[in-house]
Amino acid sequence: MNFDNVQTTEGDVNLSEERREWYNSLPQESQDLLFRDSSVFLHQSMSTPCLDVLLACEESRIESISGQKYYDFHGNSVHQLGYCNPKIIERMKQQLDTLPFCPRRYTNIPAIECAEKLTSLLPDSLSRVLFAPSGASAVSMALKLARVVTGKFKVISFWDSFHGANIDTISAGGEAVFRQHLGPMMPGTERVPPPTTYRGIFEDEMKYADYVEYVVEKEGNIGAFIAEPIRNTDVQIPSESYWKRIRAICKKHHIVMIFDEIPLALGRTGKMFAFEHFGIEPDILCLGKGLGGGVMPFAAMIAREDFNIAKDISLGHYTHEKSPLGCISALASIEYIEQNNLLDHAMDRSKQIRTILSDWFEKYPLIGDIRGIGMLWGIELVEDQKTKKPATEQASKILYSCLKNGLSFKISQGNVLQLCPALIIKEKELDEAMKILENAIKDHLSDI
Ligand SMILES: Cc1ncc(COP(=O)(O)O)c(C=O)c1O
Repeated sequence: MNFDNVQTTEGDVNLSEERREWYNSLPQESQDLLFRDSSVFLHQSMSTPCLDVLLACEESRIESISGQKYYDFHGNSVHQLGYCNPKIIERMKQQLDTLPFCPRRYTNIPAIECAEKLTSLLPDSLSRVLFAPSGASAVSMALKLARVVTGKFKVISFWDSFHGANIDTISAGGEAVFRQHLGPMMPGTERVPPPTTYRGIFEDEMKYADYVEYVVEKEGNIGAFIAEPIRNTDVQIPSESYWKRIRAICKKHHIVMIFDEIPLALGRTGKMFAFEHFGIEPDILCLGKGLGGGVMPFAAMIAREDFNIAKDISLGHYTHEKSPLGCISALASIEYIEQNNLLDHAMDRSKQIRTILSDWFEKYPLIGDIRGIGMLWGIELVEDQKTKKPATEQASKILYSCLKNGLSFKISQGNVLQLCPALIIKEKELDEAMKILENAIKDHLSDI
């Protein structure tokens, strides 16, 4: 089996030499636990053997059993409000004591209030909610609903997009590594090139939008267009005009526009919802990850009022649908963001990162591009500024050197360092974490 593709798509895979060296450098007790973990769990790409064994987490950091603390600039995108946010934990504890679970044929007050709160934050058109226990499940419901609404089963998505690891969502998504070796997928997905930028220049963006319409007209039967409004992993931010054009194409051809904001919503981009940056409204919005307050697995699909036409079909039917704990953590999270002006705080920290990265961009030839919005940043490393040859090895070395010094993040596309700190991070902490990263970059400049 050839895993070359896996190695370069996500970077910090579990099979690399660096991961092996990292494992050997850990204290014996951690190695013993990682060995037990590796002996009992099925191995799969990008996890086992794991990086370390965690004992605790607080605010913007996670802590291992050996006492090593890492600023977590990855957090699987659930940690907008930081870890163990006391306001969320307190509300959840109260809920645990009264109604921890709600069987599907019943409802509960946190569920009603959470759905009402979400729709009150959204444009009037997005007024119908279904909850789900995971982001992939929310995307599944959206894909089903688009079929019901349009009577058409085909989907357009971006190459390299990820919309969840279930078989229907990898079928609809664009990351080839998730489909390899698995045999036939669900039929009907047409993938189109995502618009990308390098140093602020859009490469053929409008041609890519024209190509979407070309596919729609040639292929026929396209019922849904699904995309992240901003690609979370390697931080690709299309322009407002691109999204307006796609919005118009969807309207013209009766295609449901689904925005997957599972890692982006609730402040990551400096706005409550990422689509607000582009002056358009999707027909269906999928939320997840941080919606559970960094504690609960919880997701939502929010659709247009006139899409409320599937009474006789089970769109979700999930056991943990109107989870009182999920709903209370979502409600408490939104209240926390509002009461603590977290979006403003995130924008202040965003400026801080921008200033630091702009300085590095001038100083370090290893950095080919920096891209970011709100508290989501990508640093693209290149071996050669002219050819843009990805500096994959250096990226991996920089990651492990940061881990040794207390900073965790993820590498995307093999050479993009993705920085996704907790929104509550303090100015001084952010400086400290960025210093760890700068030192690692400096140490590996001569590796080119
Ligand atoms: C854009 C996007 N959509 C969907 C998902 C799936 O969410 P979950 O892991 O909760 O199923 C993810 C998870 O990484 C994601 O990044």
